[in-house]
Amino acid sequence: MDWDRLRAEARAAAAHAYALYSGLRVGAAGLTADGRTVTGCNVENASYGLTLCAECGLVSALRAAGGERLTAVSVVTADGEPLTPCGRCRQLLLEHGGPQLQVDGGPGGDPATLGALLPGAFDAAELARRRQP
Ligand code: THU
Repeated sequence: MDWDRLRAEARAAAAHAYALYSGLRVGAAGLTADGRTVTGCNVENASYGLTLCAECGLVSALRAAGGERLTAVSVVTADGEPLTPCGRCRQLLLEHGGPQLQVDGGPGGDPATLGALLPGAFDAAELARRRQP
């Protein structure tokens, strides 16, 4: 896995972030199972709670490009340092990469699986099991 390349793509996306309110520019880059790269950046709003994280943009780009699955994701700030995805974004990424998804910059700095970052997650299989007829 070429983390340096994925990080560089994420950093380039961070340069396009719209982070007027927090001042924290975030970029995300993901590798798809068929070898494509998709990116996203955070987009904030005067109504703070409407902020879109960089991973939201990444997931949108994945689907818009016709991509199916993510195999690796790097999320960085404008200085290129990895940032661990927030809780909501871990759940978003789970849907499109599963627990085996490799995530840059886990605890300790090394890549971690999404399953390790989001143990006991609620997922599509659980929904199917629990849904009332
Ligand atoms: N942010 C992301 O884009 N992804 C994360 O996983 C954590 C936080 C953004 C949202 C907001 O624009 C800024 O970072 C500060 O919270």
